[in-house]
Amino acid sequence: MENLRICPNGPLQGIVRIEGAKNAALPVIAASILTEEPCCIQNVPVLSDIQNMLYLLEAIGSIIHTSDRHQLYIENANINSQIASYDFTCRLRASFLIAGPLLARFGKFKIALPGGCKIGTRPIDLHLKGFTALGASIYIGHGYVEATASALTGARIYLDFPSVGATENIMMVATKAIGTTIIENAAAEPEILDLANFLHGMGAKITGAGTDTIIIEGISSLHGTTHEIIPDRIEAGTFMTAAAITGGSLKIENVIPAHVKPLCAKLREMGITIHELQSSLLVEAGSALCPTDIKTLPYPGFPTDMQAQLCALMSMTNGTGIITETIFENRFMYVNELKRMGADITIEGRAAIIKGTAHLSGAQVSATDLRAGAALVLAGLVAEGETILSGVSHIRRGYADLAGKLRSVGASIQEF
Ligand code: UD1
Repeated sequence: MENLRICPNGPLQGIVRIEGAKNAALPVIAASILTEEPCCIQNVPVLSDIQNMLYLLEAIGSIIHTSDRHQLYIENANINSQIASYDFTCRLRASFLIAGPLLARFGKFKIALPGGCKIGTRPIDLHLKGFTALGASIYIGHGYVEATASALTGARIYLDFPSVGATENIMMVATKAIGTTIIENAAAEPEILDLANFLHGMGAKITGAGTDTIIIEGISSLHGTTHEIIPDRIEAGTFMTAAAITGGSLKIENVIPAHVKPLCAKLREMGITIHELQSSLLVEAGSALCPTDIKTLPYPGFPTDMQAQLCALMSMTNGTGIITETIFENRFMYVNELKRMGADITIEGRAAIIKGTAHLSGAQVSATDLRAGAALVLAGLVAEGETILSGVSHIRRGYADLAGKLRSVGASIQEF
């Protein structure tokens, strides 16, 4: 079922439980390659991006069992290939996260260049810079990037930008390099800390994860472990925004409030009341939404993965707000679709100027990427009449049963 039919149905009310974080599960699954011993990964979300990562691991020789929908056992003793074809890398950019573990364990990889995507060019130069500093030789040709290393040695690596994926890949290689690696200007996202915790469980020696300087003492071998993935702060943020846009009241369970601080700050500025409990949030919207300005930044700044959803919300305010996107150069493609629903948005370079209309109208629209899809669903919850959204496979990459969960708290949304 590739489409959604959404109609407004009043304020959302009830309880939503958040899944494990996609962006934490993907690097953790890749990191399991670092050991021959089995790993158990818990609280894994059921998403097409995760399934594609598991297909990739199986293609290189991993054996994967699931004991329930959210718990994986991965055995990587029999990996017999270090090659990932374009069939995999074109489906999932994060497939490049197997590069670091393959290099660390086998001293080589050959992976089809991931290429650009709908939100920007997304190069891998920082990943390769790190691999080179640790002793790998890199060759790029015929659409593949290959690396070989006879020995990997710790190094001091300064990232020009705190790339999440590059930080993860370099961290994973450094766990098995000889000596100390220091990553400066590292990404500090919660998913980096979750990966470091998984690596700790495998015996790795890492300090500073979650700050901009990560220090890794290489060791010769890592062992199997059990790890529970952190909750998905972007799924949580999307449901918080759903409560806000419908004027509803939602209890969001299984969330780490500290991880959604930048979003809470912006929602509060817009007039939303948020009560922080230990592992849940109560989000209560009033009748009027105030405009605000947002700039996406590396963590702990406002997450680019919530930018589109907040743009939909800001379309329903009673004034003008600006969203500036600083992480990806092409992340406003969904704006044309929101405009077809009556939103008043002007793009000027990296900024979207949003004039609140307090009135959107249902239309036939298409999801251009994962978070764009989420933004259009949010708009559909309050747009007058029927919204028909196509391209729903994008949404399944990062949201487990978004429609079902929204229905459970009162939304009128059907797949067809
Ligand atoms: C991860 C997240 C994604 C999120 C993004 C930013 C996963 C699986 N995905 O993606 O949801 O939107 O972080 O928070 O965790 N860059 C370079 N050279 C590189 C690598 C990146 O210039 O070698 C640039 C990119 O073009 C982009 C910026 O750095 O402009 C951020 O990218 P990065 O942090 O690497 O994002 P991902 O890890 O791909």
